[in-house]
Amino acid sequence: MTVEEPKQNPTHALYKPNFRTERYPKNRTPWISSFEQYKAMHEQSINEPDVFWRLRASELVEFNTPFHTVCSGSLSEGNVKWFEGGKLNISYNCVDRWAEKTPDAVAIIYEADQPGGAKSVTYKELLDQVSRIAGVFKSFGLEKGDTVAIYMPMVPEAAATMLACTRLGLVHNVVFAGFSAHSLAERIRDSNSKVVVTSDQGLRGGKIIHNKKIVDEALLTCPSVTKVLVFERTGAEVPMQQGRDVSWSKALSEQNEFVPPVFVDSEDPMFIMYTSGSTGKPKGLLHTTAGYLVGVAMTARYSFDLSSGDVICSTADVGWITGHSYAVYGPLCLGVTTVIFESIPNYPDGSRLWKVVEDHKVTHLYTAPTAIRSLRRLGDEFVNCTDLSSLRVIASVGEPINPEAWVWYKSVVGKDLCPVVDTYWQTETGSHLITAIPFATTTKPGSATFPMFGIEPAILDPNTGEELTGPNVKGVLCIKKPWPSIARSILGDHDRYLTTYMHAYKGVYFTGDAAMRDEDGYYWINGRVDDVINVSGHRMSTAEIESAIIQNESVAESAVVGIEDEITGQSICAFVTLQAGLKESDQIKKSIIAKIRSEIGPIATPKNLVFVNELPKNRFGKILRRILRKIASGESDQLGDLSTVADPHSITELVARVHIML
Ligand code: WT7
Repeated sequence: MTVEEPKQNPTHALYKPNFRTERYPKNRTPWISSFEQYKAMHEQSINEPDVFWRLRASELVEFNTPFHTVCSGSLSEGNVKWFEGGKLNISYNCVDRWAEKTPDAVAIIYEADQPGGAKSVTYKELLDQVSRIAGVFKSFGLEKGDTVAIYMPMVPEAAATMLACTRLGLVHNVVFAGFSAHSLAERIRDSNSKVVVTSDQGLRGGKIIHNKKIVDEALLTCPSVTKVLVFERTGAEVPMQQGRDVSWSKALSEQNEFVPPVFVDSEDPMFIMYTSGSTGKPKGLLHTTAGYLVGVAMTARYSFDLSSGDVICSTADVGWITGHSYAVYGPLCLGVTTVIFESIPNYPDGSRLWKVVEDHKVTHLYTAPTAIRSLRRLGDEFVNCTDLSSLRVIASVGEPINPEAWVWYKSVVGKDLCPVVDTYWQTETGSHLITAIPFATTTKPGSATFPMFGIEPAILDPNTGEELTGPNVKGVLCIKKPWPSIARSILGDHDRYLTTYMHAYKGVYFTGDAAMRDEDGYYWINGRVDDVINVSGHRMSTAEIESAIIQNESVAESAVVGIEDEITGQSICAFVTLQAGLKESDQIKKSIIAKIRSEIGPIATPKNLVFVNELPKNRFGKILRRILRKIASGESDQLGDLSTVADPHSITELVARVHIML
């Protein structure tokens, strides 16, 4: 890769960072303070990966037994291994070593749903709690390699539970506590989880979520689960099943022996995280120990310029990969303070997130474009009535950020004194792939800029698979070499892992996204090229939603598309045809929506549901989503080539119909 900083650029505004004039502590210098330094490190990471990663691993992670091989295997074979021969423990790295060194440093600040309910957990206290939970797990008979499902609100106890799993070499499977009982059950069964950790209830934006009740319902179809540990979040009375359900406070208080960490192999499984693909069945991505930890610690340090004493608030729930990597493991592996934010950015009003920054002197804020856009819409007063002078780096993740939102974030939230870091990555990649380096990269609003260390991107022609090497090229985004935190497999379906990621294009990892590289070598992510849609940074497959819709017996067929949405990035639009002779009604609509919510969860609720007489198909009966997407987006005048449509008259009728409905 040969990239130069853009000298002058006619098409995009440029933001050149300078830590001396931006808000930066006088007694410190950033980890990377110039573009030359970034370039030199990136070049080394690609040309001498063994040297680069050996250094990073030794700086960031303590191994109990040193590794002998940095990396082996290949993407095309899908058998990548990192830091082989090494033994380590994640919870030791994230908790014990800081509890020894700086016991009273704050590990977690808990910002509860109701304002005013914040509390701090020091590294020493966190160690005590992690050890107690591990003790409870041992009393359940759990052993290294067993899987624990976690269905909890955003509370420090959720992070402690994850860490307790890693303490014993247990594999955690955190399921976002917004998923329905059906989705939870599917994930528990697929991962063969033996224990579930949950809470009596959850609280989000003042609303009660009945976690325990949902778990009870899910477990009706999960025979593998023998114990349920119930954290008392609200203290509400919930039914407890004798012999199976255990009270958190009681069980933890009975633990009186310190539980030492179990050192595991570098490639031992660490966690499973389910995500949506192009089919109806969610994929359980399997992440392993050393590569994941080195990957998240390295990126947390360099992409955010994090050091001890800093306070990061990553607003993503621990039920998503961002919560895993940058609310829990990355920050704690670096010994910094992480804010666990239980509420939503606009509860009870549009100042909430900014008040969190003010109250806890947050130095690094990491949130999603959808939050930025919706807070922007509420007006600058909500920002300006708070003191955000602690902020040093403001970052974005989850979907492409539009330049208007980027500039607002930079100027109104960051007061033009903080770099904006747009980080592009995926559940599969474990850590950042393409991101600016805060005090080194000249940024362009809307571009994720340049590859992270160890990442060699390629833009390929989607049809021929040929690499497009020049500037100003657009195609599918792939990665050419393995990096430490790449998921190693899809649980129980390695073939699907190979076909989806490794064999779509020869010899490279396929991201599923389209991207453009501009005249200065900057990467611009254009969104998914498969049937994955992204609503407020939540990833769903159209097939998953369609299969919920089709379960309604009145429905004949359905097609779901993602359309552009000003606030949520994309929104869900469902087209439905009914069985012959049936008439559409509000009642059918309501029952379809209820089914989607119970099968997947409220996040999958369509913004629009349109009944039509016929779906546009080609001669082979394949539904033409491209056309539906255009119609739903109000671009019926730009339908393009209609020669493949089996019955062109269906389109005219569809257009007329949709215009009345939307
Ligand atoms: C998909 C991955 C890991 C982050 C949370 C979402 C989209 C993610 C960006 C960004 C443009 C982005 C991509 C990707 N995406 N970050 N900064 N700019 N697009 O993880 O649920 O696995 O979704 O989110 O389409 O493939 P995920």
